Amino acid sequence: MCGIVGYVGPDVDGKALGVVMEGLARLEYRGYDSAGVALVSQDEVFTAKRAGKLANLTAALEGATVPTSRTAIGHTRWATHGGPTDANAHPHRGGPDGKLAVVHNGIIENFHALKNELIAEGVTFTSETDTEVSAHLLARAFAATGDLTEAMRDVVNRLEGAFTLLTVHADDADTVVAARRNSPLVVGVGEGENFLGSDVAAFIGYTKHAVELEQDQIVTITPQGYSIVGFDGTPAQGKDYEVTWDAAAAEKGGYETFMEKEIHDQPAAVRDTLLGRTDEDGRLVLDELRISEEELREVNRIYVVACGTAAYAGMVAKYAIEHWTRIPVEVSLAHEFRYCDPIVDARTLVVSISQSGETMDTLMAVKHAKDLGARTISICNTHGSTIPRGSDAVLYTHAGPEIAVASTKAFVAQITACYVLGLYLAQLRGQTYADDAKQVMAELHEMPEHIETLLASTDRVEEIARFMADSRSVLFLGRHVGYPIAMEGALKLKELAYIHAEGFAAGELKHGPIALIEPGQPVFVVVPGPDTPHGLHKKVVSNIQEIRARGARTLVIAEEGDEDVVPFADEVIRVPKTSPLLQPLLTVIPLQVFALHLSTAKGLDVDQPRNLAKSVTVE
Ligand code: F6R
Repeated sequence: MCGIVGYVGPDVDGKALGVVMEGLARLEYRGYDSAGVALVSQDEVFTAKRAGKLANLTAALEGATVPTSRTAIGHTRWATHGGPTDANAHPHRGGPDGKLAVVHNGIIENFHALKNELIAEGVTFTSETDTEVSAHLLARAFAATGDLTEAMRDVVNRLEGAFTLLTVHADDADTVVAARRNSPLVVGVGEGENFLGSDVAAFIGYTKHAVELEQDQIVTITPQGYSIVGFDGTPAQGKDYEVTWDAAAAEKGGYETFMEKEIHDQPAAVRDTLLGRTDEDGRLVLDELRISEEELREVNRIYVVACGTAAYAGMVAKYAIEHWTRIPVEVSLAHEFRYCDPIVDARTLVVSISQSGETMDTLMAVKHAKDLGARTISICNTHGSTIPRGSDAVLYTHAGPEIAVASTKAFVAQITACYVLGLYLAQLRGQTYADDAKQVMAELHEMPEHIETLLASTDRVEEIARFMADSRSVLFLGRHVGYPIAMEGALKLKELAYIHAEGFAAGELKHGPIALIEPGQPVFVVVPGPDTPHGLHKKVVSNIQEIRARGARTLVIAEEGDEDVVPFADEVIRVPKTSPLLQPLLTVIPLQVFALHLSTAKGLDVDQPRNLAKSVTVE
């Protein structure tokens, strides 16, 4: 939530502004309620900010006289405190002379008290944001010390909540100082120039050399280098790493939208997530393991904590992990986990699933689990982000940067990683109950090709989507692993097309939801393969008949060769045949394509749906 960029570099006309605007464009997915920049120039700070998307700021800058500068910060906002107006847009200035500027991601929880204190001292506020208090406090601290890093240290120790703060001051023209607590920040190291960003996408066009910060640290960047101290003033080292993807991965690559590109990235996302998963003895391995395998072997209960799409990946994980390990798995929405008084001890494994690795609800669930003594594993797409860093073990998904706000490729990568985790845990337990892990892995390796086949034949789904652009409600049914896919299909449609959509377990129909069926009601049904145990396929075929008999328009997703569904389907969308547990990797694809094209047909912004932001870094 909120994208932040900082830059200091050489005296090249327009470079600082260019770098920051480019960074903001790459981070706009994090929030797009308003955007702004601050440039340090000849004893003063120039700011420009506009409500609305980054394009509004770009237009404003085109019409303005912008000073040359070597030092700049920028912000793209997802509004929390104070509506999305020009006045509430960041940067915010501090001090009587307005020589200091701040951008902020997060929430300063004690801002009311701080604001009252500042007002009592005669400070005038120009916005309704929590951020503005930090600008005035920083200006006051800088006036006292003349040192921007010291001023930051002074101020962050008074703030409560979650924040990344970046600040510049006209009297320290070649410096940007930043601080982080529970909110993302990464340093980009260049030659004669240095960068800050909410994530590496901010500076990937300039350097792949990144440095991770810990919680409660302050970093000061100048053209010559960077230095890090803790909030207590102790000097610290960051952790260097090379970004493994390049700027092209964060661009549209010839597609109209990021989402379309990311849907087509899915074969690679699955393939890359499966790479390097076995050691020389053919045993499955995790990416990072900071506890012993013995401790994991002892696990007798698993919670999966995640939100939204990631939680649906967790629901798929439940079926697979329980089947392969016989360990009971409970899926808990991360924001509910703390409040359900979970039964957790040292033999409990809490698996978090998060694309960003920064989702505050998930982070807090993991923290709670750790406080209760649980072992924690993170499935995450963002290297070095907060959740994996704080977990006992990590399994990274390799979906590459996901820019579209609605998740697609991260979801299939998460499901893939969940399968690997299930097989890994089964292996630890001697595979007493597991299918042959090698066979499952071999089948998983075939999935990218199946997804490619599906993506090459989406014409009919696209037509259906265009035809249904005026729909007011769409229902989705599934059973077993098809149930979370039904939920995910509904979520994609809500997010992208603003249509009322609901996913149900098909077996639940007769217990209430069937009352919604009226003539013409479109219903997608995810049908398990004919070989699914317990006669599930037949039961879903009966469910289709039941809704068809009441006038539903049935859009049936079924395996190649499944002819039983044909008499009851208004449309049959085919997916390649696969093992029952692995089917979600295929059945979700047409639902993503459907939501994308329906949204496009309605003329909506596919990549940046209203009211949303990519990383939800506030609770
Ligand atoms: C939906 C979507 C969200 C995220 C959720 C968790 O398309 O993207 O529901 O899945 O906000 O985000 P991460 O995975 O970053 O923790």
